[in-house]
Amino acid sequence: EWNPDMIRSIVSDLKAKPGSLLPILHAIQDWIGFIPPDAVPLIAEALQQTRAEVHGVISFYHHFRTTPPGSHVVQVCRAEACQAMGGRALEQHVRQRLAVDYHQTTADREITLEPVYCLGNCACAPSIRVDDSIHGRMTPEKFDRLTEQLTT
Ligand code: FES
Repeated sequence: EWNPDMIRSIVSDLKAKPGSLLPILHAIQDWIGFIPPDAVPLIAEALQQTRAEVHGVISFYHHFRTTPPGSHVVQVCRAEACQAMGGRALEQHVRQRLAVDYHQTTADREITLEPVYCLGNCACAPSIRVDDSIHGRMTPEKFDRLTEQLTT
């Protein structure tokens, strides 16, 4: 649960710096898990920008969510080293298995799928991240086992 004071404190901590909108949006998503639409007017007012401007930035960067994520966030690495090691087939498997595309959440609200561009684990490509842990040498079979553990 978020409240407007959380937004206000993030904004007042960060707004003095030039180009503070992006850091503010990142901080809000890190804390709350998404950018609540009701936060937009608060941000706009504090930065003296229009709501449309703030909204435009949020929708330009796919990283930002405007709805709460599922219980778990799965990030699949789409950068080169992972792609070279079967990442593309893995991506396809993951999307099929979860029946969602990137930036979407499964119908049971358990898993949100996100792309990521290098997890710093290239030596063990292909890599994915599940919440805070990175898993290397991922295969479709390993992925299925992982998701079963997550959702049971
Ligand atoms: Fe995937 Fe670096 S390219 S972890």
